[in-house]
Amino acid sequence: MKKLITLMLVLLMGNIACAEVTEEKQEKVILPQVQYKSEVSLEKALYNRESVRNYGCKAVTLENISQLLWAAQGTSKSGKRTAPSAYAKYPLNIYAVVGKVDDLAAGLYRYDPKEHQLVKLKEGDLRKDLVIACQGQGATLLAPASIVITSSHKENTAYLEVGHVAQNVYLQATALDLGTAVVAVFNEQAIDELIGLDENNHTIYVMPVGSKPQKCGCKGGACKK
Ligand SMILES: Cc1cc2nc3c(=O)[nH]c(=O)nc-3n(C[C@H](O)[C@H](O)[C@H](O)COP(=O)(O)O)c2cc1C
Repeated sequence: MKKLITLMLVLLMGNIACAEVTEEKQEKVILPQVQYKSEVSLEKALYNRESVRNYGCKAVTLENISQLLWAAQGTSKSGKRTAPSAYAKYPLNIYAVVGKVDDLAAGLYRYDPKEHQLVKLKEGDLRKDLVIACQGQGATLLAPASIVITSSHKENTAYLEVGHVAQNVYLQATALDLGTAVVAVFNEQAIDELIGLDENNHTIYVMPVGSKPQKCGCKGGACKK
């Protein structure tokens, strides 16, 4: 009996040690310093905001991704976040499905607001899986990257909070002369599985991001420039 218990303990400890090693090995990408200044006024960004679902071939950079993720859920001057949260619980998490971004390998990343870094969760270009999960909404395949906003609960407040976050991303994208849109129509199970969420976490919005086709004079989509 003792042997059996010891064996079980060893197996259990082995599993725990293994899980720790795996987590430690997760690649981290420190994001470029956030810029708190822009040549585009808030008023101009509000005026120009629109949903963009077709993207050009002008590169999306790591600096762009840094800025967008910070706008979504980064740390603010008060030490809290760029978007408000009911009871300051901050139940939202931000992921990035990266296909083609300058200086960032394709993969799935989780945004760590405290360290302003990305934690790599999966390798490779997952945009084909993303577009299937998003029921063929082409913007998620065409966009070099998509921001995925998830919540650790399904209470009403989570949906309200996601609205704040999405508007921040819209405005930041506009100020950077990038295009984005919110995508809320998707197969919930497929997308949660793709992101690797457990049963307590749920995807609420996907926001594909890319340059505007007119910026490189192409038609977007099939542009081979
Ligand atoms: C709750 C919500 C869900 C939406 N879902 C989608 C969607 O699944 N796919 C999409 O392309 N746009 C989606 N949109 C974007 C709207 O289609 C878009 O905001 C609307 O056409 C107005 O255009 P504008 O954003 O350019 O003002 C959604 C918007 C909201 C607020």
